[in-house]
Amino acid sequence: MSRRLIIAANWKMNKTPAETAAFLEDFLPRFSGPCGVDVVIAPTFVCLPKAGEMLAGQTAVSLSAQNMSAESSGAFTGEISADMLKSVGVQYVILGHSERRSLYGETDAGINSKVKAALASGLLPILCVGETLEERDGGRIEEVLTTQLTGSLKGIDQSGIEKTVIAYEPVWAIGTGRTATPGQAQEAQAFVRKVLGDLYGAATAANVRIQYGGSAKPANAAELISQPDVDGFLVGGASLEAESFFGIVQAGIDASAT
Ligand code: 13P
Repeated sequence: MSRRLIIAANWKMNKTPAETAAFLEDFLPRFSGPCGVDVVIAPTFVCLPKAGEMLAGQTAVSLSAQNMSAESSGAFTGEISADMLKSVGVQYVILGHSERRSLYGETDAGINSKVKAALASGLLPILCVGETLEERDGGRIEEVLTTQLTGSLKGIDQSGIEKTVIAYEPVWAIGTGRTATPGQAQEAQAFVRKVLGDLYGAATAANVRIQYGGSAKPANAAELISQPDVDGFLVGGASLEAESFFGIVQAGIDASAT
């Protein structure tokens, strides 16, 4: 069984449309076509139209949003729907990022509604899960991951999970420079796959891609991606520069070629 690697840039609240264009002018020429790895960038909402225009007609890099509403339209001030994202060329949407959970009060039930809305509209969810340092130190990793996965995936059927990417992002590794060791990432991600196996059967779980996120950078990417259950990365800080993000993509290209 081989899962196609998926390497995504989560720019968080960084870059204007002009800065997005400058990144892509530097980044896109590095690809002569599909590179064997799925490469995704997730700029802010206001940058999506510009990025969508620049990515149209090429097959190397796909576009993601960082969040969306579970609602399709109406009186929801400040929100954006799945169909609006699709209209500017978005294919993926990051859901349940730990910053959304901790800073904006997102719950597994709310995230579950968003996963359902994304799938219903044909967007591919990148569903984030991960424990805090306190939870890890308290020996609660498995409990936290099980709760987040079962809650966020409630009612999602087999065809839905097959379109969904899981991002394991230990909160203590995000933006801290403290990367999970390859062993820690593998152990947690094998557990994520076990939970998916309990929910959907081992054969289906074996096809789901699980990214690692948390201080991933070119210098640690090759070792992390050599782990059997690490199927790519969701990259924050190191994705903001084309050179650095491409270094991580290159680690994925090298890993998928071996
Ligand atoms: P950093 O790569 O900056 O640690 O961020 C990880 C992350 O949160 C990606 O979603």
